[in-house]
Amino acid sequence: MVGNAPGPGAEAAASDRSDLWLACRVTLRSEQLSRELHEYLVQHSSAPDAVLTELAAETAATYPRHAQMQIGPEQGTFITMLTRLIGARRAVEIGTFTGYSAICIARGLAEDGLLTCCDVSDEWTSMARRYWQAAGLADRIQLRLGPAEQTVRSLPESPEFDLAFIDADKTGYVGYWDQMVPRIRAGGIILVDNTLSHGHVIEAASRDAGVQGIRAFNDHAVADQRVELVLLPIGDGLTLARKR
Ligand SMILES: C[S@@+](CC[C@H](N)C(=O)[O-])C[C@H]1O[C@@H](n2cnc3c(N)ncnc32)[C@H](O)[C@@H]1O
Repeated sequence: MVGNAPGPGAEAAASDRSDLWLACRVTLRSEQLSRELHEYLVQHSSAPDAVLTELAAETAATYPRHAQMQIGPEQGTFITMLTRLIGARRAVEIGTFTGYSAICIARGLAEDGLLTCCDVSDEWTSMARRYWQAAGLADRIQLRLGPAEQTVRSLPESPEFDLAFIDADKTGYVGYWDQMVPRIRAGGIILVDNTLSHGHVIEAASRDAGVQGIRAFNDHAVADQRVELVLLPIGDGLTLARKR
């Protein structure tokens, strides 16, 4: 477990491929791939470091029923790269859990960047706060506890954010999108997780509220002329939208 700083073996652990094997198993994988192909993909992508690997392991050990909510290692690496590529300074995360994706975003921000995280769970985000400290990112992340819709509405309404990541309650996605699009600058991006809904999104008979929420979101977003977007088959589907 991580305390206030990574342990002395942190660097060695980061380069130990057996940690990658663990990361592949405790986090959500790109589901359309076989387990073996997914492991190969992760092994041939830049590796999550010791802090992320320990966080994934502690999340799996502490919350075995919920650990799959965490993004996978390849999604994390991808999100960090995107954040860096667009030179992001201000970002918003809707749905933080134990803090894995927040670390991936915050690491990609400019030195003076700030990530605002929205979640309702004090318990889950208390683990997040410990790992943000260990990653040296605590001063770049502001946690706002409470229903995300209220938090997002309270943010400045001008287009001053570079990036948003939506990964909370699926029935709220359309509302989060409508609140965030006007707040993102031209050329900024919105990432939305779970947009394939474990494949159920194409099962017309599915009456699950979460699946219906994702379907409504996908239809809503693709028709939105303020953005161009692509639904990527990474993790459980990751929509990448760029504001025009
Ligand atoms: C899928 S998890 C987020 C996973 C996280 N992005 C990661 O990679 O570790 C969803 C999170 O959304 C939070 N959540 C659910 N409904 C919410 C709401 N209405 N407002 C704010 N947070 C909410 C849950 O507490 C949970 O932590």
